[in-house]
Amino acid sequence: MPSDVTDAPDESEGLSYEDVAEEEEEEDNVSPTDLSELLKEGTKESHDRAENTQFVKDFLKGRIKRELFKLGTAALYFTYSALEEEMERNKDEPVFTPLYFPLELHRKEALEKDLAYFYGEDWPEKVQCSEATRRYVDRIRHVGQHEPELLVAHAYTRYMGDLSGGQVLKKVAQRALKLPSTGQGVHFYSFENISSAQQFKQLYRARLNALDLDKGTKERIVQEANKAFEFNMQVFEELDKIGALLTEEAQEGALPIHDGKGDPKKCPYYAAKPAGAQSSVCPWHLAAAALKQPSLQLVLAACIALAAGVAAWYVL
Ligand code: HEM
Repeated sequence: MPSDVTDAPDESEGLSYEDVAEEEEEEDNVSPTDLSELLKEGTKESHDRAENTQFVKDFLKGRIKRELFKLGTAALYFTYSALEEEMERNKDEPVFTPLYFPLELHRKEALEKDLAYFYGEDWPEKVQCSEATRRYVDRIRHVGQHEPELLVAHAYTRYMGDLSGGQVLKKVAQRALKLPSTGQGVHFYSFENISSAQQFKQLYRARLNALDLDKGTKERIVQEANKAFEFNMQVFEELDKIGALLTEEAQEGALPIHDGKGDPKKCPYYAAKPAGAQSSVCPWHLAAAALKQPSLQLVLAACIALAAGVAAWYVL
């Protein structure tokens, strides 16, 4: 354990993480019993699975719809709000203090800016915590309130991940969603107070290794980090299912029209169908499907041309 909780960067004294990192030279020879190594090795399989979820694979290929990206940003907002509130609560606990870096890491404010960009200033009335996000948030709250020694697992899983792949994901999102180069909509991915992600991660690992923990607690932390990966994957899966209900044309503010994939009962129009009605077919889906028929497109085009002709004849 760091002998003194004041080892954490004291921003009130104007110390930046760079100053602290210089003081805490990290040894390159890590031991297999170091928490940073145990976490890296112990979550390798989970990491591979997370990287290979459909949602992440699609995202990396730039196949992400704006509406889905907005929902993903909302999920992150609820997650980080809980995580950072619990970190605040535990900032004086020796099992967490050395990893308390609010200035460098905290994402809640960045996510608020992103949500205001996507949903407008009244975003708090427009975003909701999804079921999978709620389960993740509940776990973070439980840990923060009853097992603070496990909070480090949740912080590690999110922040080390964000610092590792953030810049790539930011560029993919900007390109795929045609977001402005000024960074609007992707503040989440920018750590303004970290000049070198690599250097910061070294410092974070050194802090993990300096925690005074017995073998059993270290094992529980690794287990909890695997749980955190699992919660993240459940959020991805949920987003993936919602994505299947959105058409390519789903625009900002528009209700999603399902494309026939997934469970049609989840279509908002299906849900709105009066009880006792015979047909289970969603009218929007039906209309969208009908408009894809070439013969119907021809008839529609002929009708429009005829109407235009009649209108022109009438005007002249
Ligand atoms: C988009 C797919 C992903 C890619 C391409 C990716 C890539 C990487 C890479 C290259 C590293 C090593 C960085 C380094 O050693 O400096 C890393 C580390 C990490 N990633 Fe990911 N990652 C992805 C998704 C995720 C997800 C979904 C999570 C968790 C929610 C995550 C959590 C982590 C963590 C915790 C580390 C730190 C490992 C350590 O050094 O202990 N990653 N990632």
